[in-house]
Amino acid sequence: MARILTGVQSTGTPHLGNILGAIIPAIEMSNDPENESYLFIADMHSLTQIKDANTLRQNTYATAATWLAFGLNIEKTLFYKQSSVPQVTELSWYLSCFFPFSRLELAHSFKDKSDRLEDINGGLFTYPMLMAADILLYDADIIPVGKDQLQHIEMTRDVASRVHAKVGDVFVIPEAKIQKDNMLIPGIDGQKMSKSKGNVIDIFQTDKALRKQIMSIQTDSTSLEAPKEWSSCNSFAIYKLLASDYQIAEMKRNYEAGGYGYGHAKQALFELICEQFSEQRKLYAYYMDNLEEIDQALEIGAKKAAKVANGVLDRIRGKIGY
Ligand code: ADP
Ligand code: TRP
Repeated sequence: MARILTGVQSTGTPHLGNILGAIIPAIEMSNDPENESYLFIADMHSLTQIKDANTLRQNTYATAATWLAFGLNIEKTLFYKQSSVPQVTELSWYLSCFFPFSRLELAHSFKDKSDRLEDINGGLFTYPMLMAADILLYDADIIPVGKDQLQHIEMTRDVASRVHAKVGDVFVIPEAKIQKDNMLIPGIDGQKMSKSKGNVIDIFQTDKALRKQIMSIQTDSTSLEAPKEWSSCNSFAIYKLLASDYQIAEMKRNYEAGGYGYGHAKQALFELICEQFSEQRKLYAYYMDNLEEIDQALEIGAKKAAKVANGVLDRIRGKIGY
């Protein structure tokens, strides 16, 4: 039985790209009876960028509500907030003292962020040590992450080995499992859907706002009567990720025949999203109206996680002389 652990940043309401590209596949993996899975909301990492308490809280709730609405099983997966197990900051400190400053200076993500962001704080610099602690604190074996996080996993393995070289073996050395970007969900402008590009589809809005967002998908100016090219259409590109083979074939025929406008195609996409995610949209709204249920769900995970964390901390404290 492998212990799989991953963290998700809580930077806003998850969009269709996050849901299809990351959340649904992760839930499928966590349901595999061969695995034991840990999934946490990295709300301490979010503090490097978000300093407004309400925003931080709201993002955490929106992220948690999405995972719960998409069927995360909290009996099977330890689901918790990073900040609910503050033991992680103690381990992070120990790890920092075993890791060379010059190595941290080589982190790509720090360089990238310090070029882009205004608030370049110390937390951004020591971010990889908190991430290493997230992993080592739970004896995790496998860490599913995107390519951009690979260096952080290498640093985790590196710092664990450095600790072992000085004080003897104490940690489980984890392995990264790189998630392929095989499902790249395009946004309303045809580019990769991303919060930072402002091109997302947020399925959790009201019907009216969702419809408006879908109607704003960028399409060309071919007239309603003329036949249309489905292969280069941004609306079709999203439709085909959700529709059945039959629905896809039907829409292709409509494009090719002419007399079918982009407005019709977008309306079909809107209806498909409403139909396919009707249960999840209801559940999301339910959780956002009943935040105490989200708190309870996360608290169950935090209690279990704290037990594991305390065991690992006891091991390391003794080794380093406390
Ligand atoms: P964003 O680009 O909106 O800030 P994140 O970088 O927070 O999204 O991504 C969170 C997760 O969602 C990652 O696992 C990422 O691979 C996945 N993801 C984000 N956007 C897409 C997309 N357009 N298509 C597929 N997966 C995506
Ligand atoms: N840094 C990760 C990201 O931005 C989130 C994260 C924090 C994480 N701690 C982790 C991922 C531990 C895996 C394991 O996506």
